[in-house]
Amino acid sequence: MRIAIIGAGNVGRALGNGWAGRGHQVTFGVRDPASPKLATLDRTRCGVASNAEAAKTADAIVLSTPWSAAREAIAACGSLAGKTVLDATNPLLPNLAGLDHPGGRSGGQQVAEWAAGAKVVKVFNTTGFNNMANPAYPGGAAMMLYCGDDAGAKGVARALAEALGFDAIDFGPLANAGYTENLALCWIWLALKGGLGREIAFRLERR
Ligand SMILES: NC(=O)c1ccc[n+]([C@@H]2O[C@H](COP(=O)([O-])OP(=O)(O)OC[C@H]3O[C@@H](n4cnc5c(N)ncnc54)[C@H](OP(=O)(O)O)[C@@H]3O)[C@@H](O)[C@H]2O)c1
Repeated sequence: MRIAIIGAGNVGRALGNGWAGRGHQVTFGVRDPASPKLATLDRTRCGVASNAEAAKTADAIVLSTPWSAAREAIAACGSLAGKTVLDATNPLLPNLAGLDHPGGRSGGQQVAEWAAGAKVVKVFNTTGFNNMANPAYPGGAAMMLYCGDDAGAKGVARALAEALGFDAIDFGPLANAGYTENLALCWIWLALKGGLGREIAFRLERR
């Protein structure tokens, strides 16, 4: 699959390296391809381009910028109508004080408004980037919730989560994105404020 990753930071690199290592064609969409921050990107395995170039030919576009940059990053992709957009962002307020949900709209729903006509799936936002690099735990794979309104796009999200080793779980429509963003806050609090550290993950047990 041709995957564009908009935002080559912690999350983007964990996902991109994982998929590139499993045979997918990964291109990072970046603001400045010559930025020294990108010196550590493995360009033998992943391409680097502008957001628009990366998005143009991609089968799936992952959004992994800071929330404050998300709207601008989406605009720089050009039209995303009909495209599968996997939204990994969390609309965090400063100092992790909560979530930016104006009028009750989740980040995932805001992304869908900004990426007009795109098939948006909320996914890869509920756990740390370290778990995206390796979701294996002694009790089994970490879970990855995905929610969206287009069955085909959700299938892409599921396949890409499973490719990384996650237990991918269908979490219904995009209207549920806010629940996943609150779950992300729970993980962040436990890991960073509650003293448990980043090597923790949520799993779904079944019987
Ligand atoms: N960190 C986690 O464990 C984690 C887990 C789940 C979800 N998330 C969410 O995922 C998102 C990314 O987190 P992160 O930790 O990966 O952040 P990060 O390390 O700060 O990386 C963000 C990347 O986005 C790039 N960027 C900013 N504006 C851009 C634009 N207009 N076009 C293209 N790229 C742009 C930045 O580039 P520059 O260096 O040029 O600014 C940077 O490479 C956030 O919304 C976060 O809440 C994070």
